[in-house]
Amino acid sequence: MLTWEEFDKESSGHDFTPAKIPSKDEKEQPSPLDETKEDYNESSSENILKAVAEDLEDLDVSAGLAELEGTAARVAVDDKAMINCRADLNQLVPFKYDWAWQKYLDGSANHWMPQEVNMTADIALWKTPDGLTDDERLIVKRNLGFFSTADSLVANNLVLAIYRLITNPECRQYILRQAFEEAIHTHAYQYCIESLSMDEGEIFNMYHEVPSVAKKAAWGLKYTQQLSDPKFETGTIENDQALLRNLIAFYCCLEGIFFYCGFTQILSMGRRNKMTGTCEQFQYILRDESMHLNFGIDMINQIKLENPSLWSEELQQQATQMILQATQLEIDYARDTMPRGVLGMNAAMMEEYLQFIANRRLAQIGLKEQFNVAENPFPWMSEIMDLRKEKNFFETRVIEYQTGGALTWD
Ligand SMILES: [Fe+2]
Ligand SMILES: [Fe+2]
Repeated sequence: MLTWEEFDKESSGHDFTPAKIPSKDEKEQPSPLDETKEDYNESSSENILKAVAEDLEDLDVSAGLAELEGTAARVAVDDKAMINCRADLNQLVPFKYDWAWQKYLDGSANHWMPQEVNMTADIALWKTPDGLTDDERLIVKRNLGFFSTADSLVANNLVLAIYRLITNPECRQYILRQAFEEAIHTHAYQYCIESLSMDEGEIFNMYHEVPSVAKKAAWGLKYTQQLSDPKFETGTIENDQALLRNLIAFYCCLEGIFFYCGFTQILSMGRRNKMTGTCEQFQYILRDESMHLNFGIDMINQIKLENPSLWSEELQQQATQMILQATQLEIDYARDTMPRGVLGMNAAMMEEYLQFIANRRLAQIGLKEQFNVAENPFPWMSEIMDLRKEKNFFETRVIEYQTGGALTWD
């Protein structure tokens, strides 16, 4: 595969200007490509066609293939690898990681769009002065503020950092699907904000104006900076470990912990028949996110399996620390968004729930659980997320999703 550095060198050496068009006198007759419509005549059209034909005749197929290392032979399953693979990445089959392709199919079967959700009841309730308490309004605003930025951070990390570093076409196929889903999620938050006539400046700027939101965003950004540098390459232990840290930060921590307080709060509101349209949007998003999380965990475990030397004692300690830090930031967010008990829950209950979630994240990537949690305070959330949906390849191969786009649980 061509590296970014090589690509830059190659690009600077290439001449991307269109083929020169034959002309009798260049000074008097500029290239037909620069001419206005009125100047077009039969002879210039002939020249264009001639130039096109000449360009295609000169097309060097071997030069194109040479850019794809190892393309001389057809790709075999054993040639494929999650990272640092040298086989042609444009050949999707034969599949090596069926779980990735299956998730692509499942994700596509769950397609939905924000405008399909009826927001009428939410608009009426939001506009009624005593329709919601101040604490309930705080929860709606904070979560729209946090999520509208968080999904954008996740999408940018996918497209600008990890996509080119994951060297497997079936995984890339799912990453492309996930990236589109993240765009739909950002659209959904924007759709809620617009429907409720909220102050867009206030909501979209929370990630650098409200400390409990800003800290979570800043924590995530820390792990994408190095990898989103176009010159960053995997292939050394140090850099491969940086990629693993990024995957743990974004999949296990951002999507696997930072979303949980907000999801629980909005779903709890819907269970009380309040903001049901917003809640429905979040339910669709939650269904997508469960799959993103499981895909990420499968990728992390597969990379560990193929590259055992990366998963050193030191990296395991760092990964544990990362999950504990993310848990603490989410507990801080719970306290900020729930200064008092609200919607049948409070910050202390959320803290216990987040510790339960953190234990699960640790176990899913093969780390020791760190919290002594007697019981899950929100069993209804586990019914929705943990038991039925949070199944990844390394735990079970059974993933049951609907073939239609409609929600099946609420
Ligand atoms: Fe998302
Ligand atoms: Fe996601």
